[in-house]
Amino acid sequence: MSKSFTQQPKAESFKDALIEAARTPGARRFHDRRHLIDTGDLSYEEVAAIIETTTVCKHITVKHRRPLDLLSDRVVSTLFYENSTRTRSSFELAATSLGARVLDLNIQTSSVVKGETIGDTASTLVAMGVDALIQRHSISGAAHKLVSTVPSYVSIINAGDGWNAHPTQALLDLFTILELLDSVDGKKIVIVGDVKHSRVARSNIRLLSRLGADVHACAPPPLMPSGLREMGAQTHTKLETALEGADIVMALRLQQERMQDGLIPSLGDYQHLYRIDHQRIKAAKPTVRLMHPGPVNKGVEVTTELANDPKISLINTQVTNGVAVRMAVLTLLLYKPE
Ligand code: NCD
Repeated sequence: MSKSFTQQPKAESFKDALIEAARTPGARRFHDRRHLIDTGDLSYEEVAAIIETTTVCKHITVKHRRPLDLLSDRVVSTLFYENSTRTRSSFELAATSLGARVLDLNIQTSSVVKGETIGDTASTLVAMGVDALIQRHSISGAAHKLVSTVPSYVSIINAGDGWNAHPTQALLDLFTILELLDSVDGKKIVIVGDVKHSRVARSNIRLLSRLGADVHACAPPPLMPSGLREMGAQTHTKLETALEGADIVMALRLQQERMQDGLIPSLGDYQHLYRIDHQRIKAAKPTVRLMHPGPVNKGVEVTTELANDPKISLINTQVTNGVAVRMAVLTLLLYKPE
């Protein structure tokens, strides 16, 4: 996967450029796929199609700034059973930027609190004419399960399921890296923190290792899950060793709401050994950049100074790119070119 995918589109108008991006052979594969459940399901051509389409969408978000009428006959619904700021609002912005109508279901005031099942909620929305369901749920496998409850013409987009997967986050992370580096092939990418509870880590490892990146995960032993080697990552418990020569460092949030008591002795111990700061990141390449999916516990997994350092931190760029990558995913799944 190389940087050439993130260069300026050539078509006359933004809409034409987007239609062109949706016509490539890689893009056409999404017509049969219909769903985005995880990065491990995507072929190289499909990932390349998402990155190329995201490039066009980024130009639209930065330069055009007006909604297009590409998906004006489409209705998408966001179903967030778990809290979210970035993912939920960027999906909504992405869908409206493409002209789609968005039905944002407020779970707290919906019939879910009366005991309605995921499948029944989905069927209700489908009966109203929804074309795509964007779901976040605390149960791993919830997105996959939803696929079997909807008719085949409805697309399911996984916006995060338990500890399992968060494909659009990994794709926006890949796009952000490709805007900077020529390619991810052979680049050392180090994921640090609460890997055990992180769907972001898993989707990134599955994606980046398949594209030839040298992926490393670093966590205290109780926060390191098994099976990462099989997914394609080397594992470390010592931060200093993990950071050596890194091109990219991805910090993860310490997910206190998903942690049973006692996995780490104290926040102070964690900070002492794993908090990334200006001093520690010097073990990486001089050109290293810091990423974080957010929300950041500033001062816990990364110092406020480092997270806010514009020369090193890509955190805001990731948020900007989140809208573009979600526009690309919606275009590829929902727009049908002739
Ligand atoms: C992540 C998530 O919810 O999976 N955030 C995000 O989507 N940007 C990571 C997290 O909550 O720590």
